[in-house]
Amino acid sequence: MFITLEGPDGSGKSSLLPRLADVLRRGGCEVVTTREPGSTPLGEQVRRLVLDTEPRVDRTGLADALLFAASRAQHVAEVIRPGLERGAVVVCDRYADSSLAYQGAGSGVPMEELRVVQRFATGGLVPDLTILLDLPVEAGLGRKSAEVTRFEAFQDLAYHERVRAAFLSFAAAEPDRYAIVDATGDAAAVLAGAVAAVRRVAGRLPCLGAALEAAEARAG
Ligand code: TYD
Repeated sequence: MFITLEGPDGSGKSSLLPRLADVLRRGGCEVVTTREPGSTPLGEQVRRLVLDTEPRVDRTGLADALLFAASRAQHVAEVIRPGLERGAVVVCDRYADSSLAYQGAGSGVPMEELRVVQRFATGGLVPDLTILLDLPVEAGLGRKSAEVTRFEAFQDLAYHERVRAAFLSFAAAEPDRYAIVDATGDAAAVLAGAVAAVRRVAGRLPCLGAALEAAEARAG
């Protein structure tokens, strides 16, 4: 079972990830939590290259897309596929849809070609469920983040609006894979929304059904 979390900057994916994993683990699932870019030795090097605000090096959106894709290819091979093959639930903070939203809608790299790059980099591995944490761009950018990335530091509001709109359009185009969760609520409300989204795929993995029942019993 492969679950991805997507959303604009500051949507709270990184806070949700350990909480959701905890719910699933307490219910007896093996859970691998991971994030992009990063999560492998190569990916962490790429992460510094693509996200650090210094040094300021000019890059095209296409160059960015290929760097993210290189990190993703390694991530799929080293972490995601082995986890899935063991039967674990893999929950990943950002994946291919982030490239489509940021490099595609944000930076203007042609979407169809970008989709081909994603298929190539991932070997066609598509999430079973993508939870989109949606909130107004200004609310997301206003939230304090531990690390200010190049995308937050140098891209304007219009860029981030295009990113948000793109995520919403992907969700509308693939309603079976996507679940939209309102990210303006508090952590408990966002977790409840994510758990409700997982319910949709629970029938495909017995441990998920058991995990959700256990979470509900605890919530009373
Ligand atoms: P990160 O610090 O992980 O931000 P967040 O907590 O908001 O996810 O930084 C990831 C940044 O990289 C974020 O601004 C989105 C961007 N990004 C892309 O532009 N393309 C991609 O393919 C991925 C995975 C991330």
